[in-house]
Amino acid sequence: MFSSVSASGVRKHSFSIVLAAIVAGMAACSTDEGPAATVSPSELNPLFAKGGTALSPQVLAEGQRIFRFDTFGDETYWTDTLHMPDTISKVVSPLAALGLGLKVDIDALPASLQAALAAGDVDLNSPATTTVLLSHDAVVGLKGTVSGTTLTRVGITCALCHSTVDNSFAPGIGHRLDGWPNRDLNVGEIVALSPSPVISTALRAILKSWGPGRYDPRINFDGINTPLVMPGAYGLRQVALETFTGDGPVSYWNAYVAITQMHGHGTFVDPRIGVSVSNPPELVGPKLDALRAYQFSLSAPAGVATDRAAVQRGKDVFMGAGGCATCHYGVAFTDVNDGILHSPASVGQDATYANRTATKMYRTTPLRGLWHPPQLQGPYFHDGSAPTLEAVVAHYVTTFGLTLSSQQRADLVTYLKTL
Ligand code: HEC
Ligand code: HEC
Repeated sequence: MFSSVSASGVRKHSFSIVLAAIVAGMAACSTDEGPAATVSPSELNPLFAKGGTALSPQVLAEGQRIFRFDTFGDETYWTDTLHMPDTISKVVSPLAALGLGLKVDIDALPASLQAALAAGDVDLNSPATTTVLLSHDAVVGLKGTVSGTTLTRVGITCALCHSTVDNSFAPGIGHRLDGWPNRDLNVGEIVALSPSPVISTALRAILKSWGPGRYDPRINFDGINTPLVMPGAYGLRQVALETFTGDGPVSYWNAYVAITQMHGHGTFVDPRIGVSVSNPPELVGPKLDALRAYQFSLSAPAGVATDRAAVQRGKDVFMGAGGCATCHYGVAFTDVNDGILHSPASVGQDATYANRTATKMYRTTPLRGLWHPPQLQGPYFHDGSAPTLEAVVAHYVTTFGLTLSSQQRADLVTYLKTL
């Protein structure tokens, strides 16, 4: 993720094939400056419009394959530059992998291996076992190539950060939950395992400081460190602009991450942020449509409703005295579909991350999958500054000077848990 790709050499009017393909669908609302202030969701998101492209089963299956297993050729980074196969073979036993927040897809294992696992006949302290798991594509988000009993190549996929498991077999081992953020995953510690000098001592210290469920997707360009909470990649079908700062539609961001963070092969150029990366051949662009279709098919997990009367009272606060629905409205609970973004100060958020992005603003986060323990229970806001939903409400009480009784605050939290 952190090789020294040059952010210079940006030529105006030189959108890459990738970005050109993405903006082609937004013709009227795209300029060199990026999406204009007012965007129409149907122009950005073909599935949003009535009669939009149907999700064909073949395209969805292909999108799922890409999301789970496609590395876009990023083995050239994770293997040739970071030497992760050596590291994994030497120090990453299955227990160590689970400790780093990696997840195991039980369905990928043959029945005999599942039975051996259940019987405690598998050595979970041996890195050799991790290679066996990788040979079955069972480590979520890691794609290994195994020759005999040797792990020769490793790459990463979207599922690394945006999938977890339901723990049905054991903690960290179960059925895949695609689109769910992996809030246990310690990406920083994993990258810091690499012996490569590409990871400087200073960067290594930063990586180790992030902790689980956090990642900074811009540090390799600007050197600034404001790690973000790993968001879900679900529940976005009716959201016009993605990312905490609404930098672009879903395929814009998918291309950004695949090429500039995962180090997949392709070209990504965005003059708004001074990023220009060319890493041929183009293995990302042709996959974006199927990948997007699959993401749009992923619904957020249903919320948890316990006390129906409290939920109704909380909803009333949300719509009324809390003022929440001024910004969190509509089917996706966000005003971004009307082209609205918010300055950091106006929503009481730290400006440091926003200032590193194309818009310098924050998008009203679509409220979905807010509470589903143990996988989903905060933290909230882009930087995780609110550890709990109670803290979210406290933030708004302070920022907007709300007068809400403790009963109203509790009811509001109960309502948020149903979203
Ligand atoms: C190393 C971890 C990591 C990997 C790998 C990764 N992402 Fe992300 N993803 C993030 C983080 C962190 C953000 C938050 C960025 C932001 O909002 O500015 C994010 C944001 C997103 C969003 C926006 C969510 C929202 O609420 O708007 C989508 C969609 C997404 N990623 C999809 C993908 C896809 C598809 C891939 C594979 C091409 C991928 N991600 C790979 C960490 C990752
Ligand atoms: C002026 C617009 C505005 C109002 C009013 C508003 N929000 Fe937000 N909300 C935002 C923005 C912008 C963000 C993203 C902030 C960030 O990530 O730093 C956000 C984020 C959130 C999140 C975090 C979601 C996540 O997954 O991290 C929750 C929960 C939330 N708001 C609930 C509320 C509640 C409850 C109220 C009413 C008390 C409210 N909001 C009022 C704009 C608003």
